[in-house]
Amino acid sequence: MSEIESMCGRLQQCGQPELAQALVAAPSLLEDLRRVDLDAIPSLVQRFVRSRPTPPEGDLAPATCVTTDAGSATDTVRLVDQAALQSAGEAMLAEGRVAVFTVAGGQGTRLGWNGPKGTFPASPVTGKPLFRLFAEQILAAQGRWGRPIRWYIMTSEANDAETRGFFLDNRCFGLDRRQIMMFPQGMMPAFDAAEGRVLLSDSTSLAMSPDGHGGCYAALLNSGALDQMEGRGIDAISYHQVDNPLAPVLDPVFLGLHARSDESSGEFSSKMVSKAGPDEKVGVFAIRGGAPGVVEYSDMTESQTTATDSGGHLRLGAGNVAMHVISCEFARRIADAGEASLPWHRADKKVAFYDPATSRTVTPEGPNAVKLERFVFDAMATATRPAILKVDRASQFAPIKNATGVDSAESSRQIQSALYGSWLESAGVRVPRDEDGRLDATIEISPLTALSAADLADVPLPEAITPGASVSL
Ligand code: UTP
Repeated sequence: MSEIESMCGRLQQCGQPELAQALVAAPSLLEDLRRVDLDAIPSLVQRFVRSRPTPPEGDLAPATCVTTDAGSATDTVRLVDQAALQSAGEAMLAEGRVAVFTVAGGQGTRLGWNGPKGTFPASPVTGKPLFRLFAEQILAAQGRWGRPIRWYIMTSEANDAETRGFFLDNRCFGLDRRQIMMFPQGMMPAFDAAEGRVLLSDSTSLAMSPDGHGGCYAALLNSGALDQMEGRGIDAISYHQVDNPLAPVLDPVFLGLHARSDESSGEFSSKMVSKAGPDEKVGVFAIRGGAPGVVEYSDMTESQTTATDSGGHLRLGAGNVAMHVISCEFARRIADAGEASLPWHRADKKVAFYDPATSRTVTPEGPNAVKLERFVFDAMATATRPAILKVDRASQFAPIKNATGVDSAESSRQIQSALYGSWLESAGVRVPRDEDGRLDATIEISPLTALSAADLADVPLPEAITPGASVSL
């Protein structure tokens, strides 16, 4: 039997007879079909397309977090010793046990930027692209800790070549090419929401999209990145997402908490910030059924979202900012579990598709398709003693998700500029502010100049900033 015939049989068996017909008409579809786990399809269609998964039930309780800031400590946020964690994390960096990991395989549909999101001009004065800002942090960290730091970047099939081209065009931003490893994540086909048919994007290709940031575990394993890390004595993966220019790619306090503290088993740690308000669309850290995890905002009831504690703070307000430290061993364990490793999440999306019956491409008016994604933080449920560190929102979180409004490039630039203005003030520079206390200047400080306000102590600074000025240091 030819491979086409046997594939047709398998497609019939897994409830995709239209795909079998499409394959007979266009044999080169075989290439895409080989990449799909066909055996998993009937169950995925049954669980996520024909039926809608209901959010898990059960009460939610606030997760226990830690902070190094005495002013932030509450009943559920315990104070821990910053100096001890910092020196533990610095030792890990000096020993070369930490790799930076950026997930950059998303489609960035909300932002609408024509290119990989990491190429987006993000900084407030010079418009440096996100990838350059992270590279500068790594360069600064290498200088400080005296050894090269490896940088792993997860791309997708859709943006891998362009991302590699961008790094080459920019000479890897001053890093050595050999210290950077890029690898594409897995892809999942989109299903038509009515019938669960796998959609085609044209006569010879399936409509595929990246399988979510949770696909990073399998991608780390399949690419050989985990082997490479372990071979080099790296045991902690410092994970962040490409769309937050303020994400500290290596944070000694966080690393120390993860690997060398009683709070953590050293498997999976997270950062959190207090939610800006009940309506902010971020998942929260909470305990359900005895185990801490992240609950999506869309899975919370109105009363869970708005409830406050005795201090007037949101009871479930520990917002997930997508910064984690993951041990290599834990990542391998999740990846080895394969299909059973992490749950799938359903997203209803508008997906243009090729209809083999009419040989036409159909552009739907509204959501017609189901995409399935995995989330990196779902692994937390299987981790022993996952630590959660509360950090200051204003200094670490300026996400670029949307074209305008909340979490846009504009709001991110304002947050970055406000932070750098406050750094200058703390270093004794007079910084102009309007009557509401808002910064009246645009300020940018390169990670090569300072990674924190304290680093400005050795930097020559102006006495004052002129109102309305744009200043880049
Ligand atoms: P988002 O969940 O914001 O998705 O990704 P997105 O694809 O970038 O943007 P939209 O939803 O289409 O507008 C958060 C982070 O996770 C990465 C993204 O690149 C970003 O760094 N990500 C997301 C992946 O690496 N792979 C995915 O499949 C999804």
